[in-house]
Amino acid sequence: MKILVFGQKGQLARALAAAGAGPCLGRDQADLSVPGAAAEAVRAHAPEVVINAAAYTTVDQAEEDRAAAFRINGEAVGEIAGAAAGTGAALIHISTDYVYDGTKQGPYREDDPVAPINVYGASKLAGERAALAANPRTVILRTAWVYAPWGRNFVTTMLRLGAERERISVVDDQIGSPTSAIDLADACLAIAPRLAGAEASEDLWGIHHFAGTGAPASWAAFAAEIFRIADCIGRATPAIDAIPGADYPAAARRPVNSALDCAKFIRTFGLSPPAWRQSLRRDVLALCAGAD
Ligand SMILES: NC(=O)c1ccc[n+]([C@@H]2O[C@H](COP(=O)([O-])OP(=O)(O)OC[C@H]3O[C@@H](n4cnc5c(N)ncnc54)[C@H](OP(=O)(O)O)[C@@H]3O)[C@@H](O)[C@H]2O)c1
Repeated sequence: MKILVFGQKGQLARALAAAGAGPCLGRDQADLSVPGAAAEAVRAHAPEVVINAAAYTTVDQAEEDRAAAFRINGEAVGEIAGAAAGTGAALIHISTDYVYDGTKQGPYREDDPVAPINVYGASKLAGERAALAANPRTVILRTAWVYAPWGRNFVTTMLRLGAERERISVVDDQIGSPTSAIDLADACLAIAPRLAGAEASEDLWGIHHFAGTGAPASWAAFAAEIFRIADCIGRATPAIDAIPGADYPAAARRPVNSALDCAKFIRTFGLSPPAWRQSLRRDVLALCAGAD
């Protein structure tokens, strides 16, 4: 089947490419900051399914760079969705746990109220709304705490710092659902054939959560699990000092709870996101093996 991916060097885009999806367009082929560029690419490739793995993802920078974040995460998404609708393509668009304000006790469900507390979250919410308005055959996967066994992310940063330092401070009062980009890519590709053949009237479109399952973790607990796995294969592991988010100042506020309940995705597609600890083990071992 013909799948077109927006994104090339990003965590998810690389996982999609590794799993055989493509073409994967980087900003050289389709710059989402340029009005019309992404729509033109959709029309030129005429895919059956578009996966939008591209986004303005620098959460802190977005506070200062609001126009760019809204352009790439909002308006461009509407353009992609509109062009997909025009060519008869379904759209899988990736969104974020940061559409929630974090005040809920317990994991968020898709019908919980959204109330982003930073510019990035607000821009991603604008993109969700633009996509759903422009193409009824859209699935939005809200995901969270994405890492991959490559690039710069929480896991690769922890392993690097762990090799350099004896102690590290990690935030312990923000809770989320760690998600491997590999699992997210696999899920996109597993549902794509179903979406390609589905009518707009079917009950599978709209917003779903997709994130690592199992008990959610704080960043400090996530780090502890990374080092537990690394320790098993003889890697240097530092002591972790759990600190409050207030002691780790950042330009953008983060929700204190953004754990995601994935029951709707499981019900709709008959697939469960893997347990985050299992995927983390696979990915840390792959990373450490690659570093040898
Ligand atoms: N990372 C997380 O923790 C997290 C959490 C929740 C949701 N998400 C969402 O998950 C999705 C994938 O995230 P990720 O972690 O894979 O992001 P990432 O590694 O930061 O990659 C971002 C991608 O967006 C592309 N991009 C950025 N600006 C662009 C522009 N102007 N024109 C074209 N492409 C542009 C990049 O293009 P190039 O390939 O050319 O560099 C890259 O492929 C995003 O929608 C993100 O919002 C991520």
